Amino acid sequence: MSTTIGLCSDHAGFLMKECVRIRLDQENIPYKDFGAYSPEACDYPDFAHPLAKAVESGEVHLGIAVCGTGNGIAMTLNKHQGIRAALCWESAVAHLSRAHNDANILVLPGRFIPEETAMKVLSVFLTTEFEEGRHRRRVDKIAL
Ligand code: RB5
Repeated sequence: MSTTIGLCSDHAGFLMKECVRIRLDQENIPYKDFGAYSPEACDYPDFAHPLAKAVESGEVHLGIAVCGTGNGIAMTLNKHQGIRAALCWESAVAHLSRAHNDANILVLPGRFIPEETAMKVLSVFLTTEFEEGRHRRRVDKIAL
């Protein structure tokens, strides 16, 4: 199984994605960056769909996605049957998104949380395992 993390953002999430990328570099965690590659205005679906497909195919293990609010990119990612993208603004939400929802993409609201919070959320998301048990039954009912 791939251990690579997939990244994507739009222009509003670009700087926070760069912070995530630098953190992954510091921790020697492999990643694939699906763009955006600059803060120039762009459309989040152009980057969200390729990341979603990479998570669904197993090319990457988990994803991190950032736009201004997190909502547009989360809505796009969650159109994909195999994706459970969770908008997380604090560590406890990130913990539960993995433990209870088996979220496979972390979505960060780049314009609404400080970088320090985002790094804590990222760390919790990447280190929390799915609890299985009763949550497996519920997660199995999500896809149409
Ligand atoms: C871009 O201005 C902004 O609309 C986008 O990043 C996101 O917040 C949409 O949901």
